[in-house]
Amino acid sequence: MQRNLNVKADRPSPEREFEASVLHGLSRRPRAIPAKFLYDAQGSALFDAICELPEYYLTRTEISILRECAPQIAALAGPARQLIEFGSGSSVKTRLLLDSMEKVSAYVPIDISGEHLEATCRRLRGDYPSLTVVPVCADYMELQDLPWVPGTGAPSRLGFFPGSTIGNLEPADARAFLQKARQLLGDEGALVLGADLKKDPGMLHAAYNDSAGVTAAFSLNLLRRMNRELNANFDIDGFEHEAFYNGGAGRIEIYIRSLRPQTVAVAGQRFFFDAGERVHTEYSYKYDLGDIDSLAAQGGFARVRTWTDPDRLFSVHYLVAA
Ligand SMILES: C[S@@+](CC[C@H](N)C(=O)[O-])C[C@H]1O[C@@H](n2cnc3c(N)ncnc32)[C@H](O)[C@@H]1O
Repeated sequence: MQRNLNVKADRPSPEREFEASVLHGLSRRPRAIPAKFLYDAQGSALFDAICELPEYYLTRTEISILRECAPQIAALAGPARQLIEFGSGSSVKTRLLLDSMEKVSAYVPIDISGEHLEATCRRLRGDYPSLTVVPVCADYMELQDLPWVPGTGAPSRLGFFPGSTIGNLEPADARAFLQKARQLLGDEGALVLGADLKKDPGMLHAAYNDSAGVTAAFSLNLLRRMNRELNANFDIDGFEHEAFYNGGAGRIEIYIRSLRPQTVAVAGQRFFFDAGERVHTEYSYKYDLGDIDSLAAQGGFARVRTWTDPDRLFSVHYLVAA
């Protein structure tokens, strides 16, 4: 597996980057740690569990849309494409495209969560023995180019960015991501984008505050990860998960909240948390079609097709390089 090979040479190692981002994020006000650090092996497994929750309509709705529209996506894309997935996770939705597309020349899953990516690729190679799978463990925002795939000529690339992962990016970063994808996919490139739609705030609130507490465990795993990797001493019971819909900004906001005054050591530094003090960990922006059009245009794409479910909960878009 390629690890950080296609990122700038002066990037710090993933371990150093995690430590530096945490120390910076806990020192600044308001406190914030980038969402990508939620995904270590445990975080990825917990995200898979979230996808199974009754309240988390996003995954099952996107899968139902993809089941319907995968043949149309395959027809739009044409044969012999390289399929490039950004934030591939367990590559579950990918299988719907692989089963519909003609002669995929290679599948390139990109994910920051290395162990999980390796396990996913082992399963995929078992189930699709003739598929060339070229995993890249990297931050997709930092990628300079895509790997060369042996035995292929000039690649025609189809990008795949499902899961409304784009919603985790603030507008400027979402724009930068699309510009990066446009550059990586090339002039003949296209991108299949899954985006969650604006809807009843009650339904959104339930999706990020499930009754089984799996989303809370996913959030609080960030504290456990700091304990494991940064020699931190967070008392997990001293913190709680907080998620709510900010209608003005059109986004779910997620925080880890201190339940009492406490001091925590992280990587040799000490941080005081007041009762009620929060660390921001994640946004999940919600869109309407106008938002998608302007984001696509800013990223160098044009929207040519959109599919939604009958209740218009979720959307899948086919964007082409403009
Ligand atoms: C919301 S999950 C979606 C997973 C899968 N695509 C799906 O639709 O079910 C986001 C995925 O993106 C990965 N990820 C998050 N930020 C990333 C980044 N900056 N670079 C690479 N992968 C990232 C996570 O490890 C995780 O697998």
